[in-house]
Amino acid sequence: MSNKKNNLHFSTKSIHVGNDTDETGSVVVPIHLTSTFRQPLFASTEKFVYSRVGSPTVKKLEENLAMLENADYAYAFSSGMAAMTAIFTMFKPNDHIIISKNVYGGVFRLVTQVLNNNGIDFEFIDTTDVKNTEKAIKKNTKLIHLETPSNPLLELADIKSTAQICKKQNILLSVDNTFMSPYGQRPLDLGAHIVMHSSTKFISGHCDVVSGVLMMNNKELSEKITLIQNTAGAIVSPFDAWLLLRSVKTLSLRVEKQFINAEKIANWLQNNSKVKKVIYPGLSSHSQFKLASQQQLSPEGKSVYGSMISFELDESIDLDKFANKLNIITLAESLGGLKSLISCPYSMTHASVPKDEKMKLGITPNLLRFSVGIEHIDDLISELDFAIEHN
Ligand SMILES: Cc1ncc(COP(=O)(O)O)c(C=O)c1O
Repeated sequence: MSNKKNNLHFSTKSIHVGNDTDETGSVVVPIHLTSTFRQPLFASTEKFVYSRVGSPTVKKLEENLAMLENADYAYAFSSGMAAMTAIFTMFKPNDHIIISKNVYGGVFRLVTQVLNNNGIDFEFIDTTDVKNTEKAIKKNTKLIHLETPSNPLLELADIKSTAQICKKQNILLSVDNTFMSPYGQRPLDLGAHIVMHSSTKFISGHCDVVSGVLMMNNKELSEKITLIQNTAGAIVSPFDAWLLLRSVKTLSLRVEKQFINAEKIANWLQNNSKVKKVIYPGLSSHSQFKLASQQQLSPEGKSVYGSMISFELDESIDLDKFANKLNIITLAESLGGLKSLISCPYSMTHASVPKDEKMKLGITPNLLRFSVGIEHIDDLISELDFAIEHN
């Protein structure tokens, strides 16, 4: 089953697209662990030739992933950063690229320390106000890259309005949709040209795979990405592709539960006197709550707010002591999995962002980022309560 336009629901398609039984009758896609494929003739044009260029297991995954974002094409990469690098590789010296200022620290490092000598003019701007984005456009602007909600401050950018500007000015729009997952937001439907995920996060959901994905509808773009990926070689392994295919089958179930847990925890944190600030797009106190309600929709059209919460504890709380009291909530980088994880962006994910820049952005040493899992809500809340009270 591969038709993205059929009438089945997202959760059904997650299980079935790319997961057809093969000629052996196997109900699960096999892992093709082979680097190369036998060719019948010297000049034959077989579907699979060499696994960097194409693997049957990876192709099945890509079919499945494309469906998640209503895309015609999907490309699975060895990491989210490899997928980001492929996007930027499409551009040449003197091209201008606008990026949300509050992006994942690794993207900031990629642009400022790895690609900075390539002659591309990267500019970080505040994309929370579309007027600001429009003002930053120059004659040579070729790409706008949004991360919404952003990591870790959960700032939103209006995808639809930005896409309208991009269309008028012939600029590409890419969106990092990692934080919402394809269940919670589908940027291609809102006019974006490329959607990127660190599939290490919600798509994998089990903290056991590092991978990335790009999805798109435009054939010309897909040919550019195919060339870059086949040549540069940042492919996902067949084994990881198989794990991801398995993970997507439970994406809806996991994410629905994570979102419900997160809403409850955000409300609980907001009412705790030792918590100074709670940032969660589902709270009416979030300055972009209205945009979140319109833009972040489940496949059934219900407003959803994600399972990422950032919060600041009172200065009287010793963060290390707090972390030491946690047991089921693990102090670790990454997010989106069924296991709850907590991190301190200042010293962990955003360590490579200069101190002044972090403080300007609002990434303070006291800010914690909580990726809410699928544990029982009472266990999560009682653990947070214990760690705050016994400090
Ligand atoms: C929003 C976002 N984009 C991109 C990445 C990079 O993905 P990966 O770690 O899979 O390379 C991350 C990683 O944390 C992320 O949070």
